[in-house]
Amino acid sequence: MYWKLESLKYLFDQNLAWAASVNEEDPEFFSRLSKQQAPKYLWIGCSDSRVPANQIVNLPPGEVFVHRNIANVVVHTDLNCLSVLQFAVEILKVEHIIICGHYGCGGIEAAMDVKEYGIMDGWLRHIKDVWRSNAEKFEGLQHHEKLNLLCELNVKAQVSNVGNTSIVQQAWKKGANLSIHGWIYNIRNGILQDLNTRRSAAD
Ligand code: CO
Repeated sequence: MYWKLESLKYLFDQNLAWAASVNEEDPEFFSRLSKQQAPKYLWIGCSDSRVPANQIVNLPPGEVFVHRNIANVVVHTDLNCLSVLQFAVEILKVEHIIICGHYGCGGIEAAMDVKEYGIMDGWLRHIKDVWRSNAEKFEGLQHHEKLNLLCELNVKAQVSNVGNTSIVQQAWKKGANLSIHGWIYNIRNGILQDLNTRRSAAD
């Protein structure tokens, strides 16, 4: 056990060094942030360790409200995701909801497979549905092209799912300044791209 504790100690050391460096740059940072959060963005992204929300857009703590799950899926029966969405929209009053997928997503690739994964299969089902409803777009494509296309189509489907929630519909009815964006991140070069699927109250 000892070596395991030792390896985790590294994380606490890292934490102390980080907190000290933030303090050095901005001595009021933590006390200011401890009073309240007022992020303008809700980020719904993939759990993949290579796609960390704040780092990708180079924003400090306090700027992005985050929900992540396998393959950034928004399901209408997922109380976890919907609670995050409700809190972000109704309490924090975020102005932008960003659905951020990424190329080479393992969750999307697993959904393209016939292999069984166990409990995850019920989750991947939602991605398989996106594939099936766009089947004609995949004809004649190579595997990696199919994967990239499904990563993009999945983001677009989730933009639509978020826009169709009663939470967002109600907010728009009340005149909230709220828009939904579909983005995709390239883990090979660190670049974000807008998929031009923006939705707002006017649409
Ligand atoms: Co992923």
